[in-house]
Formats: sequence, C-alpha cells, structure tokens
Amino acid sequence: MLNGKRILLIVSGGIAAYKCLDAIRRLRAEGAAVRCVLSQGGARFVTPLALAALSGEKVYEDLFQLTDESEMGHIRLSREADLVLVAPASANILAKMAHGLADGLAATVLLATDKPVLAAPAMNVRMWNNAATAANLELLRQRGVLFVGPVEGDMACGEFGFGRMAEADDIVAAVGDFFRSGGRLEGRRALVTSGPTFEAIDPVRYIANRSSGKQGHAIAAALARRGAETTLVSGPTHEPDPPGVKMVRVESARQMLAACQAALPVDAAVCAAAVADWRVAEAAARKIKKTGASAPVLTLIENPDILSAIAKAGNRRPRLVVGFAAETDKVLDNALAKRQAKGCDWIVANDVSPSTGAIGGDANTVHLITVEGVENWPRMSKPAVAERLAQRISEALEAAS
Ligand code: C5P
Repeated sequence: MLNGKRILLIVSGGIAAYKCLDAIRRLRAEGAAVRCVLSQGGARFVTPLALAALSGEKVYEDLFQLTDESEMGHIRLSREADLVLVAPASANILAKMAHGLADGLAATVLLATDKPVLAAPAMNVRMWNNAATAANLELLRQRGVLFVGPVEGDMACGEFGFGRMAEADDIVAAVGDFFRSGGRLEGRRALVTSGPTFEAIDPVRYIANRSSGKQGHAIAAALARRGAETTLVSGPTHEPDPPGVKMVRVESARQMLAACQAALPVDAAVCAAAVADWRVAEAAARKIKKTGASAPVLTLIENPDILSAIAKAGNRRPRLVVGFAAETDKVLDNALAKRQAKGCDWIVANDVSPSTGAIGGDANTVHLITVEGVENWPRMSKPAVAERLAQRISEALEAAS
C-alpha cells in the first residue's frame, strides 16, 4: 500500500510516543521508508536507539549537530520526504507549528517543510480543551495540516476524555488514505449545506435551532483541501469561512434551496445543514407589537426539503448525495428510513441527545449508512469525521467514474 513512500516521522514529547514504535513497524511493513526526528521531549519517552532499530535509519535529534547539518541538513530531511508525520503531536509542538517557532530540530523541520503534514495530537484532556490549543488547531487546519485523532479514552494521567493519540493502526490507515489516489478530488465539484436556518416571524424575530455549522464547515474544508471546487451554502453561524471554499450565505430554508439549485450541477452534495422544518406561514412585515391582548398565534407551514430536492433533481442530480440524520431516539432505524424517504445515497446518522454534547460541541459519534449497510465510526472530533467522510466521497466518486 505504501511502496516507495518516504515518511519523515517527528516524535514529540508525550507518553503516547510508545505507540509510534508500533506505527513505524507497520508503516515499514506496508512498504514505506521511515526516517525519524526525535524532539528533546520525545527523547524522554522513547530512545533514539529504539527508533533507529525499528526504522533502520539514523535518528536525527539535534539541529546544531554539525555532522547532521552538513550530511543531511533540516531542509534536506524534509525535501526527501513525501509526507511529514507528527506522532505524537504534543500541545507544545502544535503551538510551535501554529506560531512558526523554530527552537529545535523538530520545530525547525516543521517550519521549513513544504511537504504535506499529518499530525496525531496527543495530550491531556484539559490541554486539548484549552482555548489556546483549539485556536492553534484551527489555524493549522486552515493552513492545510491534516489530523488523525485524537480519540476519547483513558489517559496515562488517570483521567478520561479527548486527547488520547490515535492507535498505530489508525495512523497507518490515515497515511494510506493520504497516499491513495482516490484521496484527491481535483476536477470535481462539491456542494455542502451547513448551519441552521433562520425563519422570520417579523423583521426582528425568527425561529432558529442550535446547529453550530461546525460539522458542515469542516466537511466543506476537507473537500476543498482535497482539491474539489466546493460551494458552501450556510445559514447564520459563528464559524470562520473555510479556506478555498466558495461561500454563499443565506438565512432561510427557501434561500438555501435557491442557492443550492444555483450551485448544481455538482459531483457530490452533502446536506449537513439543520434546516428548519417549518416556517411561519406569513411573516409579519412590521414588528408585532405587544398590545396587552392575547399573545400572537403563529401558524407554521412546511419548508422545502433541500436534501430531497437535490436527490430528486433528475438529470442535475449529483452522482453522490449525502444527508445527515440527527436523531435523539432509535437513531439507526430512523436514519435508514430517512435514506429511503429522501432518496439520498448515504446518510450520516448521529445521536444528538443532550447527553452526547454533539449539538454545538466539538465531537461526534456517527454511523455511515450506505446501500451496503451500516458502518459505526468511533467517537471523533468533527474535523476528523469530515476528513473520513471526504475520503469516502473521493473513493466513491473514483469508483463510479
Ligand atoms: O428530516 P430531517 O430534517 O431529519 O433530515 C435531515 C437531513 O435532511 C439533513 O441532511 C438535512 O440537511 C436535510 N434537510 C434538508 N431540508 C429540510 C430538512 C432537512 O435539506 N427542509
């Protein structure tokens, strides 16, 4: 799977560094050549000897080791790699990457490289949840850094939560995804809907829902990163515009439908928006006054179903139409029924009961429902779900062409 691929593995500090030993073994078993850079922090957890033994190559540690600089040089280290893999990627190395620090060989290579970077974050749950880490990650994502994990689980520090490094298998799979030709979407067009819709009651009031747009925006970003010409039709959100995406901002469901129809034809459409099911039959042209008499009664009428409209768009139907099903009960049963009813190819089903924290939160546990059946994905960050979905979309489009 990875024959002839050259991976520069940067090992930063963290107890998860032990997992990178297994990752090296598996990457080499797949045919890749692995060369390691060990940060000072990383060297507290794994030895250069272990890395050298498993990689079969010299291990690079010190920027100022003259022989290293003359023999290899940090620029050459990156030039001779097809992919830079940072595993574990500590909060510290991610912060250095985000802010362009170059205070050691690992950080310097990361600043100097123009090669794709895949990072496997590993840190304590509180460090992961810290706003500084979240902002650094967002910056790195916007610059095209790819991520695998982290996952939720028990931590070496005795706590439980998000921040545990992805397992070696998942890291190797992510490296494989990256190299597979189906991972690219150049020449393809994609449409993504995201966020809530606002349905006017009068000029100042509206009906809305709690959707943050995080998942939809992440999907648009992931598709664009793979080279798809991507239109993101979004209701009002606080999410920044993903880089490289054509943004169309709308408020109501009817505006969203019109914008989607204008974006067709596309190869793939992903409807992640939480479109309001109903709107007020007749929004008042002026602010409804509190008269002291009885409260106004709002009559609701059904909104157009954008996903169904796209899935039933005749000769303008995208080759792949993906819907979302946010459910609080009988998640799979309802999602399977929804796939049929809406006429879409895939449904991404997620449990949005309040206890899951999925709505507005950063993580999601989803099931991908295709004609072949149901795939249960582990709990992942929303960008990780987006990455995996984008990968699946690129594979499906490649298989269909
Ligand atoms: O019927 P329900 O709202 O649960 O369906 C969810 C899926 O349908 C999502 O993909 C959502 O984006 C899409 N949808 C839509 N237009 C609507 C309602 C839902 O595109 N009016």
